[in-house]
Amino acid sequence: MPKTQPSLETIVALAKRRGFVFPTSNLYGGLANSYDYGPLGAELLRNIRNEWWTTFISTRPDMVGIDSQILLHPKTWIASGHVGSFSDPLVDDLVTKKRYRADHLIEEWIERKIKKGSTEFSSFVVEDLSVKEMATFITENKILSPDGNPISEPKAFNLLFETAIGTVADDKARIYMRGETAQGIFTNFRNILDSTRVQLPFGVGQIGKSFRNEITTGQFVFRTLEFEQAEIEYFFNPKEADWQKLFENWKESMHSFVTNTLGIKEKNLRWRQHSDAERSFYSKDTYDLDYNFSFGWKELWGVAYRTDYDLKQHMEHSGQSLEYRDPHSGETFIPHVIEPALGIGRAFLMVLTDAYTEDAEKKRTVLKLKPSLAPYKAAVFPLLKNKPELVEKAQAVYDSLAKKYSITWDARGNIGKRYLYQDEIGTPVCITIDFDTLEDDTVTVRDRDTTEQERIKLSNLEEYLASMLQ
Ligand code: GAP
Repeated sequence: MPKTQPSLETIVALAKRRGFVFPTSNLYGGLANSYDYGPLGAELLRNIRNEWWTTFISTRPDMVGIDSQILLHPKTWIASGHVGSFSDPLVDDLVTKKRYRADHLIEEWIERKIKKGSTEFSSFVVEDLSVKEMATFITENKILSPDGNPISEPKAFNLLFETAIGTVADDKARIYMRGETAQGIFTNFRNILDSTRVQLPFGVGQIGKSFRNEITTGQFVFRTLEFEQAEIEYFFNPKEADWQKLFENWKESMHSFVTNTLGIKEKNLRWRQHSDAERSFYSKDTYDLDYNFSFGWKELWGVAYRTDYDLKQHMEHSGQSLEYRDPHSGETFIPHVIEPALGIGRAFLMVLTDAYTEDAEKKRTVLKLKPSLAPYKAAVFPLLKNKPELVEKAQAVYDSLAKKYSITWDARGNIGKRYLYQDEIGTPVCITIDFDTLEDDTVTVRDRDTTEQERIKLSNLEEYLASMLQ
């Protein structure tokens, strides 16, 4: 039997039990679609972010990074089209008043039909339906809410979060929490051109929080109100560069990052091209890199050819030039852009899901994370916590390694239990300081995946960790 993915409940339970993710404000009963990252989660997130930044920004001469505001001038969102059309189709359960996404209810209805053996809708693409067509589909097929109640007609529900600036009293106070990090890049395009040495083709990336008033609940950190995006806008001259080639290069870089850098199994990834109806009107081509989550194949990372839509829109709405002047030909034009947009929370959930392993033979749960992503690279144990000479020696080992790596300390319970705990949080190596260490400066290192133990010299420990992290 091929191994299936661990259930979402399994991942949620592990994440809570071991301090990766907590439901936010759980003191007050939680808040829908909102989570906090605990001590382990914060480390894992940081590692994913750092890998992305190193791969796509700091090691590429054609890339720069920025860090723009969450609150941008409200005209930004009018120009980008978000105020007008950044919406999901919403329906209300007419009895319970609970809200659902119409497209999701239709998808679930079709899935149930297919499970019962119907082939009528097997190649039906729900994303291709307009809100009006969804209304007709719902009426014709008498689709009900999950509680079995009638539902309202779908209406477009804008996902932007609105807030207000305290210093202004009238309507001018309205401001939006950014719905994507991308717009902060477009609005800084001129600043970046004027302040750096970049020349086309070049990309600008940033990592930061975005906000969407999502209706769907129950997908853990996959879909949250507040989430982190890592987005790139890669600008180029459409007359000089072949967009299809650039697009393919980006797809390859994204795939390689997920498999090689994040260590995800290739069989759990697939590309899905957006149909004409699904694709945003300004995009010439869009692909999603989907991951096989426990609740189905879902978008991890999108890549879209946004043409010159955004810069053009901002030029029109601001009245300022966002043209690029070619230093050789003197030609001025609006660059085109390819946009790879990743959700860090989704990458986090994918990494946990892919690494989760139940080792029946050894009766343990192991997170087989790539060592470079593991929250702790090693755990240091004094064999016995009530022997000061062991504790002191172990403390010295901890201190020297902690200068370079994220290291954890554990002196609680017996060694077997400490191993099981570290396996469950994905620590690649456990280092035990025992009485022999005091005699000959050797320690026991135990490998997370094989559980094999070996004795190595203290002076070789750093080298041992460095080679594991390669
Ligand atoms: N600038 C383009 C853009 O924002 P998107 O497909 O809407 O495109 C990009 O979002 C990525 O952000 C998605 O592929 C997904 O990983 C992540 N994302 C979007 N909405 C999210 C949400 N509500 N919760 C968590 N991640 C989300």
